[in-house]
Amino acid sequence: MANVTVIGAQWGDEGKGKIVDWLASRADAVVRFQGGHNAGHTLVIDGEVYKLSLLPSGIVSGTMSMIGNGVVLDPWALREEVQKLEGQGVAINDDNLAIADNCPLILSVHRDLDALRETAAGKGKIGTTGRGIGPAYEDKVGRRAIRVCDLAHLDRLEPQLDRLCAHHDALRAGFDQPPVDREAILAELADVADFVLRFAQPVWKRLKKVRKAGAKILFEGAQGVLLDVDHGTYPFVTSSNTVSGTAASGSGLGPNAIGFVLGIVKAYTTRVGSGPFPTELDDEIGQRLGERGHEFGTVTGRQRRVGWFDAVLVRQTCSISGVTGIALTKIDVLDGLETVKICTGYRLRGNVIDYLPTHSADQAEVEPIYEEMEGWSESTVGARSYVDLPANAIKYIQRVQELIETPVSLVSTSPERDDTILMKDPFED
Ligand code: GDP
Ligand code: IMO
Ligand code: MG
Repeated sequence: MANVTVIGAQWGDEGKGKIVDWLASRADAVVRFQGGHNAGHTLVIDGEVYKLSLLPSGIVSGTMSMIGNGVVLDPWALREEVQKLEGQGVAINDDNLAIADNCPLILSVHRDLDALRETAAGKGKIGTTGRGIGPAYEDKVGRRAIRVCDLAHLDRLEPQLDRLCAHHDALRAGFDQPPVDREAILAELADVADFVLRFAQPVWKRLKKVRKAGAKILFEGAQGVLLDVDHGTYPFVTSSNTVSGTAASGSGLGPNAIGFVLGIVKAYTTRVGSGPFPTELDDEIGQRLGERGHEFGTVTGRQRRVGWFDAVLVRQTCSISGVTGIALTKIDVLDGLETVKICTGYRLRGNVIDYLPTHSADQAEVEPIYEEMEGWSESTVGARSYVDLPANAIKYIQRVQELIETPVSLVSTSPERDDTILMKDPFED
C-alpha cells in the first residue's frame, strides 16, 4: 500500500496535524479532502508552533500540498493563513500548493447564516465553529455554490448569484436581515480572485499524474468520525463526511487509492461544542487532563470537554471507517495518575450494549461501564522508543488495542514532531 489516509477516530483534535506533519517526510503529496477552516491542526517543530486550518499539514515540511474538491474554501481565511505561515518562514507557492478549482467557496452570507441559526437555536444549538461550514455545504448540494473556478469568470456570475440570493434572501428575511448585497459579494470576490487563482487547477488531474509516477499520497482528514454527518452523534456533528472513504470522492481519486487507513486516537477523550459524551468527567481528574493536555480549541479558543478513553466509541469508528491501524496520541497526559479508566461497554435502561445507539437521547442516557487499571508514575514525555515506556503504560496501550480490535502503529508522546514512536510504518504495509 503506497498511500495513507489519516482520519480522526473520535470527536476531532486527536493530534492529526502532528502525525500528518511527521508522516509528510515519507510522502510525496499531502491532500485535504473535506471540512474547511473549522479544522485546527497544531504542529510543533523544534519549539516553533504552527497552526493550520485550511492548508494541508504537509506544507510546513515543504511537501507538495493539495486542497481537494471536498473542502469548502474560505478564500479570505486562506489568504490570511498563507500570509501568517509565510511570516513564520514557510514557503508557499504554486509549486507546493494546489487548490481544486471545483471547491465551493465559503462567503460572508454563510458565516452570517451560521451565526444567525446558532443564536436562534436555543437549546438546540450545535456549538459550531461559526465559520459558515454547514451553510456552505448546503449550498454546494443545493447547486447554488460559487466555486473556485467562478473566480476566473466573475463577469458570468449573474445566474449563479440569482440562485444563491433567491435562497439566502428568503432565509435572511426570516431572521429580519437585509437581502444579500450582491455588489459587495462581487467586490469581495474580485479582491481575492487573483490570489486564489494562482493555485487553482483540476486537482484530480494533478493527482492522477503524481500517482502514475509512483508517488506516495497522504490524505489528511479533518474533524473526526464522531462528527461525521452520517455516522457521528447527529445532529451534533459537522456537515461533511469525515470517514476514510471521503478521501476518494473529496480528492478525485478512486477508492483503491486510499491505502492504509490510519485512525488518530487520543489516549483519553475530548469534545468541543454540544452533544452527548458518555465518559465526560466533571471532576478534578477531568480538569487535570484538560490542563495537562492544553485542551483549548485552536480555532475558537473554547475549552474542550474531557473524559476517559471510550473503547466502545473507537471500536465503532474504526469499524465504520475501515481503520487499518491507529496512532495513539497524548499518552503522556495520563502520566502520574494512580489509576486510569477505560470504558468497555454501556448500560442503557438496564441492558448492557457494546455500541453507541443512534438516537441522541439514548446516547445522552448511556452509562459507561469502566475497567480500571493501575496508572504509572514515570514520565512518558518525549519517549521515542516503545521500550522506554513504563510497564503500565504499555499495558494500557495493549488493552486499548485489544478493546478496539485494531493494532497500534504509532504512539505520540509530546506535541513535538519527533517525539513519536513508530511501531509499524503505514507506508510500508
Ligand atoms: P488535530 O485537530 O487532530 O490536528 O489536533 P489539534 O492540533 O487540534 O489538537 C491536538 C493538540 O495536542 C495540539 O495542541 C498538539 O500540539 C498536541 N499534541 C499532539 N500530540 C501530542 C502528544 O502526544 N502529547 C501531547 N502532550 N500533546 C500532543
Ligand atoms: P479538527 O480538524 C473538533 C465541531 C464543532 C461543533 C461541530 C460543528 O481540528 O479536529 P462546524 O463549525 O463544523 O459546523 O461545527 O463540529 N468541530 C470540531 N471539533 N475538532 C475539529 O476539527 C472540529 N471541526 C468542527 O465544535 O461541535
Ligand atoms: Mg484540531
